[in-house]
Amino acid sequence: MSDEKVLSLLKEEFENKNIVRCIFSNMKGDYEYNKIIVKPLVIKNNFLYQFEQFKNNKAYHENITIEEAKKKLQEIVDNFYQHMVFTKNSDIQIIRGKKDFNVKKVTNEKEVCSLSHNKTKKYILEEGTRIPFLIKLGIMGEDGKVFKNSYDKFRQINKYLEFIDDTIKELKSKKLIENHIKAVDFGCGKSYLTFALHHYLKNIQNMTFEVIGLDLKKDVIEYCNKVAKELNLENLEFLTGDIKDFDKLKNVDMIFSLHACNNATDYSLLKGLELNAKVILAVPCCQHEFNQKMSSNKKSEFYSNFNPIGKHGILLEKFASIATDAFRAQALELCGYKTQVMEFIDMEHTPKNILIREIVDKTNEKTLEKKLVEYENYKNFLGIEPLLDTLLRPYFKIKEVKNENN
Ligand SMILES: C[S@@+](CC[C@H](N)C(=O)[O-])C[C@H]1O[C@@H](n2cnc3c(N)ncnc32)[C@H](O)[C@@H]1O
Repeated sequence: MSDEKVLSLLKEEFENKNIVRCIFSNMKGDYEYNKIIVKPLVIKNNFLYQFEQFKNNKAYHENITIEEAKKKLQEIVDNFYQHMVFTKNSDIQIIRGKKDFNVKKVTNEKEVCSLSHNKTKKYILEEGTRIPFLIKLGIMGEDGKVFKNSYDKFRQINKYLEFIDDTIKELKSKKLIENHIKAVDFGCGKSYLTFALHHYLKNIQNMTFEVIGLDLKKDVIEYCNKVAKELNLENLEFLTGDIKDFDKLKNVDMIFSLHACNNATDYSLLKGLELNAKVILAVPCCQHEFNQKMSSNKKSEFYSNFNPIGKHGILLEKFASIATDAFRAQALELCGYKTQVMEFIDMEHTPKNILIREIVDKTNEKTLEKKLVEYENYKNFLGIEPLLDTLLRPYFKIKEVKNENN
């Protein structure tokens, strides 16, 4: 899509007050701001757009009218490579390519957030309603009010439930599940999210289910079982153990691996395949393996071409973590899953904010061949032998690319 068309698309969405949130990032050249986030708001009955503009790690806010916002859009289209536009009925990803912009539009049915300046967002779990597990875990008081210092946790739980909600809808619409679901949360820790899942399935979706949380830490698991018992939560069980050795179930619909450390995520992905998971939701953290392996091969194509990144520890660490998650997503695609990589919760609250969502999908040999070539090239470029390659390769739907000359 040309610059003019992108500009008129954006202007139309702004004009029609459709915008829920926009993130303009990946600045071109030396533009004043390196990122701009736009949200609609209403102040004293006036509809405005708030531009939160980032420069030197500081945010500068400007609340402006629709007409002023539309004028600013030209500058934005000219100066940013990436535009994420969330509207009332679609998510639009606009990325500048070599010639034109690539535009991907996904229609959604998300709820529209409230626009008042002191907005209360419509969450799946609502503040003001007593939710027993949140009270028990010390996130809200007996009156249903969320404690001030637990607000981030409350938002995180809600964001997680939004993903679950979308995922359950997709599983149902693809007829991958009916009204029963088996889910395992690997590395569940104190299990805020496992309890939230239970609450959601039982009280919001009214489904039947088996939910298991697994963690290495015996004392944490004892605590979770105690909470589950005190709250009379049925079909929810916590087990002590290593992800690698989990054999309680033969088939599972949904696998979670949230903030499980380093290669624990990779073993969760492997388990997902072993247990025929229909969906895997992983939020990886501390991707040390790639960092260490990449640093040990200074002859790699990566180091030959990307030394400006490789020579700085902090940049290599960030690059390695993106490289790891991209590798995971690509490997799972080769195992027959449709992959989505999304922002889990806002950067401000945790740096571990990439969610990889995998749903089983139909495969096509030609597409798989192309993906396998990309995968091999990418692995060669990084110059490493990742553990995940050894773990997942036996599950690849394609073993090698056929030589066209044969
Ligand atoms: C950072 S906590 C995350 C807890 C929870 N999933 C969340 O997102 O709030 C990571 C948990 O993974 C567990 N873990 C790490 N490696 C594991 C493994 N191989 N098997 C089982 N649990 C593991 C740790 O004991 C820890 O409780």
